[in-house]
Amino acid sequence: MDPEQLKQCRDCTACPLADTRQNVVISRGNPEARLMLIGEAPGAKEDALGQPFVGRSGKTLDRLLQDVGFQLDRDLYICNAVKCRPPGNRRPKRGELSACRRWLDLQLAQVDPQVIVLAGATAVEAILGLKGGMTMLRGTWTTWQNRLVMPIFHPSYLLRHSPDAKGGPWDLTRHDLATVRRRLCER
Ligand code: URA
Ligand code: SF4
Repeated sequence: MDPEQLKQCRDCTACPLADTRQNVVISRGNPEARLMLIGEAPGAKEDALGQPFVGRSGKTLDRLLQDVGFQLDRDLYICNAVKCRPPGNRRPKRGELSACRRWLDLQLAQVDPQVIVLAGATAVEAILGLKGGMTMLRGTWTTWQNRLVMPIFHPSYLLRHSPDAKGGPWDLTRHDLATVRRRLCER
């Protein structure tokens, strides 16, 4: 976003989440990257610091991305479907997702990623319009608006499982991210 758009986004009051937020959480990473990762919405830490995925989920995500060889500041742009924290970390409501869509669309247009990773069911629903079924959807390529799309489990889901379980959600997510990395290396 250019400085004017950033200011408008930081001042946005298009939905009720504006009333309870500390910060509008826009993005981190490289706006020139070929890969964009979209999560759900900021949590407490993200709201306090104004950066996406910087709490426990974010640490998990960073670790997995690095495990498969991504360089965080260079290789991807990270954002969320909704830019302000929903109270108590509830899921964003449909009206909030649609109010915030203009910012996500702007990010998509400007970053123009070849590949999109959708972290969790909310991002999948926002972009693909598919409800639920992450166990079925994760790990499989789809295309959307001429871009390759890979759904993965949300990192907060991984945090409810052991990182050491063979073939468990951590392994599957590492596998999915490795698939994404391989594809980007080919292109
Ligand atoms: N969960 C998300 O979906 N996004 C964040 O930025 C943090 C946690
Ligand atoms: Fe605006 Fe999105 Fe924040 Fe709602 S969540 S106030 S639409 S930036």
